Amino acid sequence: MPVYRQLGEIPSKRHKIFRMPSGQLYAEELVGNMGFVGPSSLLYHVQRPTAVRAVNTLKRIEWRPADPEPLKHRHFRTRQIDQTGDAITERVPLLFNHDVSMEIVRPADPTSSFYRNAQGDEIVFVSEGEGVLESPFGSVIFSAGDYLVIPRGILHRYQFSSEKRTLLVIESAGYVRTPKRYRNEFGQLTESSPYSERDIRGPQNLETHDESGEFKLIVKKANTLTEMVLAYHPFDVVGWDGFYYPWAINIRNFEPRVGRFHLPPPTHQTLEGDGFVVCSFCPRPYDFDPEAVPAPYSHSNVMSDEVLYYANSEFMSRKGIEYGSITLHPDGLAHGPQPGRTEASLGQKETNELAVMVDTFRGLHVSREATEIEDSNYYLSWLE
Ligand SMILES: [Fe+2]
Repeated sequence: MPVYRQLGEIPSKRHKIFRMPSGQLYAEELVGNMGFVGPSSLLYHVQRPTAVRAVNTLKRIEWRPADPEPLKHRHFRTRQIDQTGDAITERVPLLFNHDVSMEIVRPADPTSSFYRNAQGDEIVFVSEGEGVLESPFGSVIFSAGDYLVIPRGILHRYQFSSEKRTLLVIESAGYVRTPKRYRNEFGQLTESSPYSERDIRGPQNLETHDESGEFKLIVKKANTLTEMVLAYHPFDVVGWDGFYYPWAINIRNFEPRVGRFHLPPPTHQTLEGDGFVVCSFCPRPYDFDPEAVPAPYSHSNVMSDEVLYYANSEFMSRKGIEYGSITLHPDGLAHGPQPGRTEASLGQKETNELAVMVDTFRGLHVSREATEIEDSNYYLSWLE
């Protein structure tokens, strides 16, 4: 869980008179979840955050399931998705259920709209690109391999400084958190956790933009994008404190675990929401017993649909997979290394694989858009 942070100027007590040099009161805004009892932060704006000049319905996000297919393993080549639009409005819906959805966006525009997701928390895996995630809390500098965790209700904007830009967006209906088993009763990540608070980067460099005008904000609620025209620049905060803010951790700061023999995927768990977990498969030495079998054993993930996003082209147990591939191994089927891969793994000392896994506890729907980039013969790839 994020820790308490404070940036900029705040008064000595909450809800106490706090004036700017002109004598005007700063405008407080509590941003949090679960009403007034969940994690929250208290922000101090120069102008009222409630001042809206106009609202328009911009776009309805259609989650259209593809025509039914027999139960089978699926493979989607996301590199076929065009680089277009910005990081918010051109997300391509791929997989979804009531708990979690997954989208890919490859923005052409380096600057996104101001955006607030009011229906879910977002875990945004930066597959390609670098830049700054701006917010009223300050800026989170990001680069490839970062998981950006953006709790619901937090206004933000992407500013890319790179030409290549690819984001995997995982939207969670429940609150995204660190796995409970990594935390002690006081909320601190323990010595056994594969990452620590030191690896978590919160907002920095709080800049206060006291500007009036017309500032377009896109708010996502009920799968509809509403465009609101704000009367004031939304990044007009002079200070804030609390437990609720955007943060980042790089996949390469996840310390992988290795055993004498093969360890199961939960060893690689990084984050969780309600009804799903996120795991990171990182470069690491293989199991160190001379007779260990480094490749994973076939398994039937009963009560779990397994999604893998391949963040580089190397993955020891899959052939035909490329950078940006997404595989879906649904509940009800066994999956495992393809022919020859287990034998080929014997004696290997290390792997450079980099992949993000999303295991969902309820079945996933495949979108129509996903079938347009599907390798439809993937399910046959375990034949000799
Ligand atoms: Fe698996």
